Amino acid sequence: MTNILEARGLWKEYGDVVVLENINLTVREREFVTIVGASGCGKTTFLRMLLGEEAPTRGTFLLDAKPLPNEPGPDRGIVFQRYSVFPHLTVLQNVMLGLDFAGAPFVGKLFGSARRRARDKALGILNEVGLYEARDKYATQLSGGMQQRLSIAQSVIREPRILLLDEPFGALDPGISADMHKLILRLWEEHKMTVFMITHDIKEGFELGTRLLVFDKTRLDAQAPGSFGARITYDIPLKRADQLLLKQVQEQTRRTDEFVHATQAGEAVENAQQASG
Ligand SMILES: Nc1ncnc2c1ncn2[C@@H]1O[C@H](COP(=O)(O)OP(=O)(O)OP(=O)(O)O)[C@@H](O)[C@H]1O
Ligand SMILES: [Mg+2]
Repeated sequence: MTNILEARGLWKEYGDVVVLENINLTVREREFVTIVGASGCGKTTFLRMLLGEEAPTRGTFLLDAKPLPNEPGPDRGIVFQRYSVFPHLTVLQNVMLGLDFAGAPFVGKLFGSARRRARDKALGILNEVGLYEARDKYATQLSGGMQQRLSIAQSVIREPRILLLDEPFGALDPGISADMHKLILRLWEEHKMTVFMITHDIKEGFELGTRLLVFDKTRLDAQAPGSFGARITYDIPLKRADQLLLKQVQEQTRRTDEFVHATQAGEAVENAQQASG
């Protein structure tokens, strides 16, 4: 697996306040990185830097071994804790909006066959997140869990390689979480994304991730609370990583198997033709 992201000696300061200090991290494609840490220790700031909304004050951030662009791009999508859906649009319109902006940033609308393709794609994603039946409802008619599915669909339809989730299930009833966990794991697998997910539920972090990061301040100064930032204090490989690797090895060997079978079948046909001819 190739590295998709690398942080080298990354610092983030706001004036005199050090938020993050010396973050070093290498993430491979298709990892599911969960992030936990005390409130205010810079988790959201880290995601916003990944998105390109904020620049580090020191150090480098590399995406595919190249400096991370200073602005959000279609390769990175984000879902926040609070639903970002437009209440006056239907479910389908909300999802198509993600594509409208991506496909025609100046017009804001797609026409003709491009529009039909976008519609089909949107319906496909709605099916994946379980909102196909609700496609013509207005966003305000949806429950919290459904709105969050819609937010996820809005991001995933743009086929980001990296999906950023900032406490996406934090505002939902605990009962809904299990379904949302299944959904996010399925999307992660099927769309082959690399995921970064902040959670305040450490159990959720352990269950969902292939890797868990803990952000924490290692030094505290009561006189000057802003003088030290958070670092990565734990970087824990989780067992799900083994399952991910297993799948990838299976995929790879299956490709070769199919190739060998196809070639053997081709040879068999040739031999039979030679024998009969
Ligand atoms: N634009 C900004 N200007 C100044 N300070 C900021 C800005 N954004 C964040 N901060 C500060 O950076 C620190 C980290 O904030 P951040 O939102 O990243 O924390 P967090 O770990 O996501 O917290 P929480 O768990 O509460 O969401 C906080 O002290 C916050 O006040
Ligand atoms: Mg936050």
